[in-house]
Amino acid sequence: MAISIAPGAVVAWEAESPSDRRLGVVLGELSETAKYVVASASWGIGGDQTVNIQAEDFVRRPVDEDDDLQISHLDTSTLPADSLTVVGQISGPALSRALRARITDTSRWFYETYHHPRRTEANTSAVPYSGRVFDHRELEFAVEASLDFWLTLGRFGERLQRDLARYLGVRRTVLVNSGSSANLLAVSALTSSLLGDRALRPGDEVITTACGFPTTVNPILQNDCVAVLVDTDPGSGNVDVTQLEAALTERTKAVILAHALGNPFNIDAVLDFCRRHELWLVEDTCDALGSTYRSPAGPALVGRFGDLSTLSFYPAHHITMGEGGAVNVVSDPMLVRAVESLRDWGRDCWCDSGQDNICGKRFSWQLGDLPQGYDHKFVYSHVGYNLKPTDWQAAIGCAQFEKLPEFNRLRRRNWELLREAFGRYEDLFELPYPEDGSDPSWFGFKVLPRPDAPFGRSEIVGFFESHRVQTRMIFGGNLIRQPAYWDRVRADGTPAVRTVGQMTGADRIMNSGFFIGVYPGLTEAHIERVGNVLDQFVDGLSAGAVAMPGVVDLRRAARDLSPRRQAVRDLREQTGPSRL
Ligand SMILES: Cc1ncc(COP(=O)(O)O)c(C=O)c1O
Repeated sequence: MAISIAPGAVVAWEAESPSDRRLGVVLGELSETAKYVVASASWGIGGDQTVNIQAEDFVRRPVDEDDDLQISHLDTSTLPADSLTVVGQISGPALSRALRARITDTSRWFYETYHHPRRTEANTSAVPYSGRVFDHRELEFAVEASLDFWLTLGRFGERLQRDLARYLGVRRTVLVNSGSSANLLAVSALTSSLLGDRALRPGDEVITTACGFPTTVNPILQNDCVAVLVDTDPGSGNVDVTQLEAALTERTKAVILAHALGNPFNIDAVLDFCRRHELWLVEDTCDALGSTYRSPAGPALVGRFGDLSTLSFYPAHHITMGEGGAVNVVSDPMLVRAVESLRDWGRDCWCDSGQDNICGKRFSWQLGDLPQGYDHKFVYSHVGYNLKPTDWQAAIGCAQFEKLPEFNRLRRRNWELLREAFGRYEDLFELPYPEDGSDPSWFGFKVLPRPDAPFGRSEIVGFFESHRVQTRMIFGGNLIRQPAYWDRVRADGTPAVRTVGQMTGADRIMNSGFFIGVYPGLTEAHIERVGNVLDQFVDGLSAGAVAMPGVVDLRRAARDLSPRRQAVRDLREQTGPSRL
């Protein structure tokens, strides 16, 4: 009869001779072979490559042994059952630690073999606008989450929510499945009856800016409110704050604005406007995790200035979890309740998935007309959604979060290098600049040819793309030009979108602007290549190769220091490049 040995058995066997007696732990059986995979083990003090088994980890401890057992999880032999003598047994959790360690190490090898950048991104012949930047940690964490098989948001989700809240200095961070969901959740939370008179009602107005990403604006329409679009300043890419007052009516209840391409909007002006008129402020921080703005206590991370802020963890963003996002509640406990409830089906209960009865009154609440003691887990106080991500996504986010400081450093460096490259042609391009008082962690480098430049966006974008420098439009441009918003009406048939001003800034960006990448996967050599492609483009202009009539030698002209450019250079020397 075949001998059966349980996984986790501590076994002894003779190797070459009776005097060569070995010790090991059975990791598992090779299917249908009656052979076992046995990891070497020894008594004593362990090292990096071993899993430590202590007294409490034994179900049955071998007699006469008081030391810890060290399992060398990578050093295994395949042995027939009849060669093994069972001398003890470790617990299931202890065995799972050894198995996890082995799988984690194997995942690292897989990363090294298959994903390592030297094999996939070694050359600079292409300059993508974004890409995944990860190492073995992301893979290991994702595998860990698979082994947990918790499925829905679990320990990694809790950890990432806590880490992000601590990093940003906000009361609560709530993970969701995308940045768009985060914006939907943030604006929807403002409709909660928990907010009393300040809650958004159908027909109320929410101010935003015309140029940007559609899902910053869509939640206003999805909540049957009116989106009031003010113009965008083409230089900063952000809201033109001089038009905020003109946008105000007695129905205005909130402002939602993105920090465009990582560049903080004029927070001082917007906050002042919101405070004077008692308006909610939602910062769409999807493109700006790590950007800072001045505050009385010194530079502070954006995402903590408004009432709510949102994050996106799509791969192009500062950190990724594949698909994902988050809502940050800066301080208001009512908003915490509204956000959590709306994310989780609209339920009133605040227990996380897998938790029960945190309030201790699960079966004793009396709420409205509901039967006394109706299970609080099934009481719904909002018309909610289920916007949660999974724990796999959160696990990848945890590994990415560890890299955020370095990612931010590289984004800033790449932007500065690009600015130097484009700065050679200031007569052709209106250069981007950080908002006064800010230090952006950039999402991208905005390129805006001057109105009198002897070429259009199509020429330069075509040239860049043909030289494998990837470009992107500045999202939807002026959103009122997009078909989705033409003649958009509310439920009662009244207009859902109102514009303020001439929209010349937003149109300018839509007609001429684009951006290129600064993501941390780009090396200095990549950026140098962008500079070379730019030089070639300008050379081509002067040689007439880009088919621009009337251009003589633009490159020389661009390099010819006009008094204005000299003044800019002097100022840059005084203040440093990032202030210009
Ligand atoms: C400013 C802004 N808000 C929201 C989003 C939406 O994020 P997601 O793609 O995760 O839905 C994006 C996406 O790029 C964005 O740039």
